[in-house]
Amino acid sequence: QEADKRARILEINKTAAKYFYMLLQSQQGRAAREYFQKRELSEETIRHFGLGYSSKYSNDLYQYLKRQGYEDSVLKDCGLVTIDEKRGGYDKFWNRAMFPIMDANNRVIGFGGRVTGQGEPKYLNSPETAVFDKSRNLYGLNFARTSKKPQILLCEGYMDVIALHQAGFDNAVASLGTAFTSGHASLLKRYTKEVYLTFDSDGAGVKAALRALPILKEAGLTAKVINMTPYKDPDEFIKALGANGYQERIDQAENSFLFEIRMLERDYDMSDPEDKTAFFGQVAQKILNFSEELERENYIEAVAQRYQVGFEQLRNMVKHLGTRGY
Ligand code: GTP
Ligand code: MN
Ligand code: MN
Ligand code: MN
Ligand code: MN
Repeated sequence: QEADKRARILEINKTAAKYFYMLLQSQQGRAAREYFQKRELSEETIRHFGLGYSSKYSNDLYQYLKRQGYEDSVLKDCGLVTIDEKRGGYDKFWNRAMFPIMDANNRVIGFGGRVTGQGEPKYLNSPETAVFDKSRNLYGLNFARTSKKPQILLCEGYMDVIALHQAGFDNAVASLGTAFTSGHASLLKRYTKEVYLTFDSDGAGVKAALRALPILKEAGLTAKVINMTPYKDPDEFIKALGANGYQERIDQAENSFLFEIRMLERDYDMSDPEDKTAFFGQVAQKILNFSEELERENYIEAVAQRYQVGFEQLRNMVKHLGTRGY
C-alpha cells in the first residue's frame, strides 16, 4: 500500500522531470535557456542534471499529468500540485528554472526551482513527501557516489554542485536548502571517510560550516574546510579562477580545528593582552577535548606556530585546565 504510493509518486516525479526538460527546449523555455547560458552551463551539463523549466501557466503541469492518466487522488501526495475542491488543481512551480533532485539511486524524489529574473523566493523546493526526506538526501550524490576522487565536497547550493561537476569535480554534493544533519553525515559515511566543506564565504556560510563540523566529526568523518574568499561561493570561484584555481584551494584546505579557532579568534581583540589570554584559554579548553595525548601535542604545536605563542606556555595552560590530568 505505502510502497505502491511511493512508486506512484516516483513515477509522477519522473514524468514531471521529463516534461520540464522538454519545456526548457521549447519556445516557452527560451528565457530559462538564456538564464542557464548566462550561468555558463553547457548543453551537456543541462542534460546531465536534467535541468528544465516550469511553465508560466498556473496549472500546466497539472493538466499534463491528468492527460497522462493520473487521478487527483494520487496527484495530491506528490508535492508538485495543490488540489482545491472548488478551483481544481494548480502547480507549485511556475515559470522557474527547474532542478530535479535525485536520490543516490537516480530516482527523482523532488525538485528545486529558481526564479530566472527578479522575484521571491529565489529558490522554491518541493515539500517533503513519502519519497522526499530532505534530511536524508543530498543533491549530486547520485553522481558523487561513484567519483574516483578521494573525498566528498560538501557545498551549499544547487548551482555550486553543478558548477563543480562541470569543472570536473564530480564529487560535489549539497544539502537541499536545509541545514546539514546527522542523517546527511551517515549517508556520506557510506561513500567516503573525508568531507571537505566548500560553503559560501559569507557569515551564513561560516555559521553553517561551524554547525556541520561537529556533526561530521560525530559520525566519524574527517573534515577540512576550503576557503572561497574573495569569491562568494564555489560557483563564482570557478567562474573566476577555473578548475585549477579550485584544485589549489582543495590542496590548501584547512584542518577543521584550526578553522574553528580561526573563526573563534574573530571574537577577540588580539592586540589586547586580556582578550588574547582569554582566547588561548578557550583554545586550550578545546584542545583538552582530544582524547589522544599525541593529538593534543600536535595541536598545541600547530596553534603555537600559527599564533606565535610559546609551545611550553600553551602546553602548561592545557595541563592546568585538565582536571583529570593531562
Ligand atoms: P544562486 O543565486 O543561484 O547562485 O544561488 P546560491 O546557491 O548561491 O544561493 P544561496 O547561497 O543564497 O543559497 C544556497 C542554497 O540555499 C540554495 O541552493 C538553495 O538550496 C537554498 N536557498 C536559497 N535561497 C532560498 C530560498 O529563498 N528558499 C529556500 N527554500 N531555499 C533557498
Ligand atoms: Mn526530515
Ligand atoms: Mn548563501
Ligand atoms: Mn551562487
Ligand atoms: Mn551561494
